[in-house]
Amino acid sequence: AERRILIAGNWKMNGLGADGGELAGALAARMKAAPQPFEMLVCPPFTLLSRVGETLSGSAILLGGQDCHAQVSGAHTGDISAAMLKDAGCAAVIVGHSERRTDHGESDAQVKAKAEAAHGAGLMAVICIGETEQERDRGQTLDVNARQVAGSLPDGATAANTVVAYEPVWAIGTGRTPSADEVQEVHAFIRAEIAKKLGADIAGGMRILYGGSMKPGNARELLGLADVDGGLIGGASLKSEDFWAIGESCL
Ligand code: G3H
Repeated sequence: AERRILIAGNWKMNGLGADGGELAGALAARMKAAPQPFEMLVCPPFTLLSRVGETLSGSAILLGGQDCHAQVSGAHTGDISAAMLKDAGCAAVIVGHSERRTDHGESDAQVKAKAEAAHGAGLMAVICIGETEQERDRGQTLDVNARQVAGSLPDGATAANTVVAYEPVWAIGTGRTPSADEVQEVHAFIRAEIAKKLGADIAGGMRILYGGSMKPGNARELLGLADVDGGLIGGASLKSEDFWAIGESCL
């Protein structure tokens, strides 16, 4: 199946107005000057959505949120709904990032409900999964990822409305990554688990991103793997040069 590479930046809890505007402006200028075959997504903190969205408008770079609530509206102080993200100009939302699973105790069932809410609002859900270092050391990597695929992906997931991001927790922000062979093995395994749940056609078209210390120096090798369809980039997405270089490395 044809799978267009997706280069997604997760700014996490970084960026005030001026920095965010500058970063988005630099990316928008590059994309306008030279349209690229890959898809690019930028996920700033909620406070910067409107500013970054204005800067990106007309540039073909997509805007995304970093989380959403499972409900459409209501008494949920401090939360943001998928419909609000859509209203703010988002095309996508990250759900189930390991930092949400750890810091906010989000379960697979909650992540699934959030992905369903995203779909209900017309957003693409970027559903994150991945094992911890302890799980890897115990030889549970494949089991953990199988359980997360089974538990976090909604039944209505399609290749168009869902992207899976494989992020080994121990590789996030550490400068460490699995070997290329290990990444490909886990991605192929995840695709097979998606096929069990949603069928081979959907699994064959669904993009599986790699995340965890992706940078210009390792992006070409990782993005060249058969079952790696893009990257979810944290630290290196905060510098326009690095983020752009990661994108270009898939060409
Ligand atoms: O969502 C992004 C990932 O958590 C990767 O973060 O590129 O800083 O390791 P990182």
